[in-house]
Amino acid sequence: MRLTLSMLLRAEGFRVAEAEGAAVALGKMEREVFDVVITDLRMEGGRMEGEGGVELLKAVKQVSPGTEVIILTAYGSIHSAVEAVRLGAFHYLTKPFEPEELLLIVRKAEERRSLMREVESLRAQVRDRWGLERIVAKGQKMQRLLELICRVAVTDATILIQGESGTGKELVARAIHARSRRASHPFIPIDCGSLPEPLLESELFGHVRGAFTGAVENKNGLFTEADGGTIFLDEIGVIPLSTQVKLLRVLQEQTIRRVGATTPTKIDIRVVAATNQGLKHLVEKGAFREDLYYRLNGIILDVPPLRDRREDIIPLAGHFLKLYGDKLRKPLARIAPEAMDLLLRYSWPGNVRELERTIERAVVLTLGETITVQDLPPTLTGRLEGEAVPTRKGLSLAEVEEAHILSVLYEHGWNQARAAEELGISRTTLWRKLKEYGIVGPLTSL
Ligand SMILES: Nc1ncnc2c1ncn2[C@@H]1O[C@H](COP(=O)(O)OP(=O)(O)OP(=O)(O)O)[C@@H](O)[C@H]1O
Ligand SMILES: [Mg+2]
Repeated sequence: MRLTLSMLLRAEGFRVAEAEGAAVALGKMEREVFDVVITDLRMEGGRMEGEGGVELLKAVKQVSPGTEVIILTAYGSIHSAVEAVRLGAFHYLTKPFEPEELLLIVRKAEERRSLMREVESLRAQVRDRWGLERIVAKGQKMQRLLELICRVAVTDATILIQGESGTGKELVARAIHARSRRASHPFIPIDCGSLPEPLLESELFGHVRGAFTGAVENKNGLFTEADGGTIFLDEIGVIPLSTQVKLLRVLQEQTIRRVGATTPTKIDIRVVAATNQGLKHLVEKGAFREDLYYRLNGIILDVPPLRDRREDIIPLAGHFLKLYGDKLRKPLARIAPEAMDLLLRYSWPGNVRELERTIERAVVLTLGETITVQDLPPTLTGRLEGEAVPTRKGLSLAEVEEAHILSVLYEHGWNQARAAEELGISRTTLWRKLKEYGIVGPLTSL
């Protein structure tokens, strides 16, 4: 059987190694990683009659978890074959079988292997994308925060992130997840403020069929979807009191109860919460449960407002300049010193998000290679709206046209129809010009 199968597989272009027993096979696997192992359920050399294949399967799953195992079995030992699948075998085939059947299964196993590899590499990419690398942190305050992130990420503790709007709370939450053992499981952000109260609970915990009008089927909640991973509860301060009780139970018991369900379901979740208002204050007002507050405030990460870490302003501006410059194919070199000065002096009530929008806008509006004071919004410059007339000296007609098209598009939220109307050209003409200038937009969706 072994010889026939080897010949068959080789003829189909597979690379095949043979082993006459489990021990030999495992020896070969120490030296090389195999995609697929095909083994009989009964093999000589198994300690107990009929168990050689299952033993091998267990050993393979230990030394090389990614290797797929296909079990061949005689009619009559289906029971053990099913057991083998339960133990992680990819498939079983009952003898006698057609060569085509085996080839089909081997190809499927191969396909699965390559899918798994793809998933792994995508996960690694996502990890990098959301890891610490994405956080610009020049000054001491942010450096300390990064250190804290690293330290708390590896624990499973519930974490509360506090900070004004736009300071980077979500970025911090994602970095915590990316550095935790849960990194390859989902990170699910929930904006508690945007879900209406009646929906919130079913959205979070799911519901069973018939729990309320409209619940026509069982539905998983976000907590179930995030199983094994991290739930990010943004704006936790606005969660209604009734849902707070349930959230407390999730944190204490790691169980959820679907709306309308009688029994709880076990889940494995880490909760990271964020708030931009003092929770303590909400507790005093009676809007936030004290017990939940104490449950959450074990580890608190404070993200400082931008005005308290001005040393980060220029590095952040540079980061966004590169980001949007690349995105817009406007590889801008620099920010003019006077513009830099304004960025440094401004109070940034909208924090990093406001700085990001400011640089994005400037990249869109700027006419040359340098971002000047004219490209900054009136809030920063203190000048009146409409007063700004950027100088067009030294620019070609095409450059002025491109800059004008960009700014009109930007003002209209990248709605091409409305932009074309304001520009007094047809949509086709606009489309042609966008192509000509290599304008890709919209900038905001990263
Ligand atoms: N240190 C940083 N380095 C790079 N980008 C940052 C940094 N801080 C914030 N950002 C960017 O600023 C924007 C706002 O950040 P984020 O959404 O994390 O803020 P937030 O605190 O959750 O705001 P809100 O309270 O409004 O939800 C995002 O685009 C984020 O990528
Ligand atoms: Mg946020």
